[in-house]
Amino acid sequence: MTLSFPVCFRGTGMYVPDEVLTNQHFTDYLDTSDEWIVTRTGIRERRRAAPDECTSTMAANASRIAIEDAGLSIEDIDLIICATATGDCQFPATAAFVQAALGARQVGCFDLSAACAGFVYAAITATSLLNIGLYENILVIGAETLTRCVDREDRTMIVLFGDGAGAAVMSRTDNPEQAVLHCELGCDGTRTEHIWIPAGGSRLPASENTVAEGLHFMHMRGREVFKFAVKKMAELIDNALEKTGMTPDDLKLVIPHQSNLRIIEAARVKLGLPPDRVAVNIQRYGNTSAASVIMSLAEARSEGTVKEGDLVLMLGIGAGLTWSSMLVRL
Ligand code: ACO
Repeated sequence: MTLSFPVCFRGTGMYVPDEVLTNQHFTDYLDTSDEWIVTRTGIRERRRAAPDECTSTMAANASRIAIEDAGLSIEDIDLIICATATGDCQFPATAAFVQAALGARQVGCFDLSAACAGFVYAAITATSLLNIGLYENILVIGAETLTRCVDREDRTMIVLFGDGAGAAVMSRTDNPEQAVLHCELGCDGTRTEHIWIPAGGSRLPASENTVAEGLHFMHMRGREVFKFAVKKMAELIDNALEKTGMTPDDLKLVIPHQSNLRIIEAARVKLGLPPDRVAVNIQRYGNTSAASVIMSLAEARSEGTVKEGDLVLMLGIGAGLTWSSMLVRL
């Protein structure tokens, strides 16, 4: 049975910090090369948050743009969900800091932890809450300050990640052209140690030893995750098309999580789509985890690559290992 939820992306926005780190920044002090980084990942540069910025400040900047783009005011927001793996603190929720920064009403606020699959997880959560009529307008954010969670001396990790934020106002819609048509969420919890920050939580509290061993930094089994991501991306695409009876030609834009250009290319080749129908901005921003899909959607909407009524497939895969997809008629 084909699903159809009367929910739309009413407004979108994104924010990235001003500082650009090119690949040369790393070749100056690490045993790495522009050639290795570009060939293995597609990344040419990424952004780094200024000392006075953090996840909530970037999220608030993206949110203001999304709310204005939606033609709404901050008072119209009924709930704030922030997908992030690099929140301001262990608690309270980064969404609460965003609420205060925006001067929003005292609406519900929570964070959602699904790493790079996080924005689509959050968008699906918002879809269900809008669909049951609990809210009219939900602010859904994907925001990360990953450069602060990676060891700058670890060449296998530091070149991959960037900072940034994207936000969407998701709303109920009466327009029959707009709908969420397919949602999928999943997680393989036997692979939690494939990508994680081992210390700093209740499992292994921070101590002098954990800091000395670098266990407060992100660790990843890159090659295993790469193979998993290529396979899972193909499955997500098959499921979305099969369940809705759509074909690749129906898709105006596919927005995969931006973790590696080779993973994105494998998805594009599987679909048989030309390059302009698959969103790619990894060369400019690196992997921004939960922010990447919504930053790509915000860019595509502001550049006019997609417009109301277009069919868009969003795909996320990340730590957990989690995965998520959403097929939406914008
Ligand atoms: N510069 C030069 N050499 C390097 C660098 C570097 N920056 N980094 C690693 N190498 C070396 C390795 O040490 C290794 O050397 P060896 O063969 O002598 O041991 C060699 O390059 C190959 O390393 P691999 O890890 O096999 O390289 P691979 O082609 O797999 O690329 C990468 C690594 C880019 C991490 C890739 O595996 C990947 O993109 N994985 C998926 C990441 C992903 O999707 N993550 C999910 C989201 S992240 C999240 O949820 C927060």
